[in-house]
Amino acid sequence: MVRQLSKRLKILIVDDDEAVASSLALLFRQSGHSAHIEADPEAALRTIAETGKDPVDTFDLVFQDMNFSRKTTGEEGLSLLSEIKDRYPSLPVVLITAWGSIELAVKGMKAGAADFLTKPWTHERVLHAMNTTLGIARVLTTPTGSKTLTRDKLDAQYDFNGLIGKDAAFLSVLDVVGRVSRTEAPILITGESGTGKELIAEAIWRNSERKSGPLVKVNLGGIPGTLFESEMFGHVRGAFTDAKKDRAGRFESAASGTIFLDEIGDLELSSQVKLLRVLQDRTFEKVGSSVTQTANVRVISATNRSLPDLIEEGGFREDLFYRLNLISVHLPPLRERGDDIQLLARHFLEKLAKRYNRHAAHFDSSVPSWLSMQSWPGNVRQLRQVVERAVLLAHGEQLGIGDLQQAMDMQPAEKKRSFDPPVGEMTLDQLEKEMISAALARYSGHITKTAAALGISRAALYRKLEKHGMTP
Ligand SMILES: Nc1ncnc2c1ncn2[C@@H]1O[C@H](COP(=O)(O)OP(=O)(O)OP(=O)(O)O)[C@@H](O)[C@H]1O
Ligand SMILES: [Mg+2]
Repeated sequence: MVRQLSKRLKILIVDDDEAVASSLALLFRQSGHSAHIEADPEAALRTIAETGKDPVDTFDLVFQDMNFSRKTTGEEGLSLLSEIKDRYPSLPVVLITAWGSIELAVKGMKAGAADFLTKPWTHERVLHAMNTTLGIARVLTTPTGSKTLTRDKLDAQYDFNGLIGKDAAFLSVLDVVGRVSRTEAPILITGESGTGKELIAEAIWRNSERKSGPLVKVNLGGIPGTLFESEMFGHVRGAFTDAKKDRAGRFESAASGTIFLDEIGDLELSSQVKLLRVLQDRTFEKVGSSVTQTANVRVISATNRSLPDLIEEGGFREDLFYRLNLISVHLPPLRERGDDIQLLARHFLEKLAKRYNRHAAHFDSSVPSWLSMQSWPGNVRQLRQVVERAVLLAHGEQLGIGDLQQAMDMQPAEKKRSFDPPVGEMTLDQLEKEMISAALARYSGHITKTAAALGISRAALYRKLEKHGMTP
């Protein structure tokens, strides 16, 4: 299912390969749009300029090839793209590239292309690119003036139930979220741990035209590379030893709905390429099957890591990044959200006081400014936990700074979700020693418990203690 846009669109196809151009044109015409073909960049620019004189007659979208002569460097395509972007910045351009020239596609995305199609494509994929690109163009060219944004206005338009906050930075996040929800565009949500990325993903789904379909959440950090394909795409009976019967994967379960790829920054490289393929072609096969299925899903992903940094370090594919990141939503850390800290604290207090039957619980007057002064490294999640503990621990109904401070001190240091070994700073031997001494401290020198926690025998632990010159 690819939803049709009601408007009849005018599409320009720039490609010197007649077969490619006319098959694209046919597809667009069959979908009720008009398509015009040009075979070379100069002619394309002339046509855009001529039709641009009449606003009714202007093109809505350009699909362009990257090579127009025997050269296959893509230079010609890139220069056409930058000419178009210079002269008509709001005219969306989708690139047509050969599979394998992903670097070129990435260059194009950096130079302002809205999307790229790789040859050979499926009809689904072309229409999806068209719908997504126009959806994004439409919502992003009509920005709501941020001065006039209010929570009430947003609530009148969208369902942001359960999302507390009216700080300006948060409202502009909600504004973007509301507007992009209704498109088919993939959305990448970034922000520190506990800032509300999952809540935002749910809000996008709730406000989308896919809300009657499922929202399937997948924590990619928890799926080892060896299981990635069967988990995401499913398998048929007998595909491997443990495959006793057919099983649907996550993409199939999410059909007609939305898939939420959480902790995308933790995905192994070998799995990234498999994910890229399904996002690129919108098709996949179950493990052990040769039947190709269509992935009818909207993709939302989230991470608390910096993907650009990961790309730099070689831990994340740049082409996958551009696939996921057509729209990005960044959640500011709680410490930058001003009055929202107090608003959220009161919200959690009210909810939790009810839950724990302490209906009269309230903050004393010194609390709000104290809350605002904290750095909240664990963000909204941490604030909620601190309030919860304070409600449970406080003796009276009035919660003071002391109660909150005590609740804060009891917090385990923000749990690291992914282990980040200090490569280059430590040797394996040193790391082993650190790990052993941490385990010994945790179990107060109890040898059996320490060995069990480290997954080794008592004898092995003694040998290691001796090796490192340590005493329990
Ligand atoms: N604006 C908000 N209003 C109300 N509750 C919120 C808000 N933002 C976050 N929360 C609450 O804070 C907690 C953490 O939110 P969430 O799980 O969405 O964070 P996250 O960004 O996905 O964190 P992580 O990176 O650790 O996965 C949840 O209990 C959520 O309900
Ligand atoms: Mg999360």
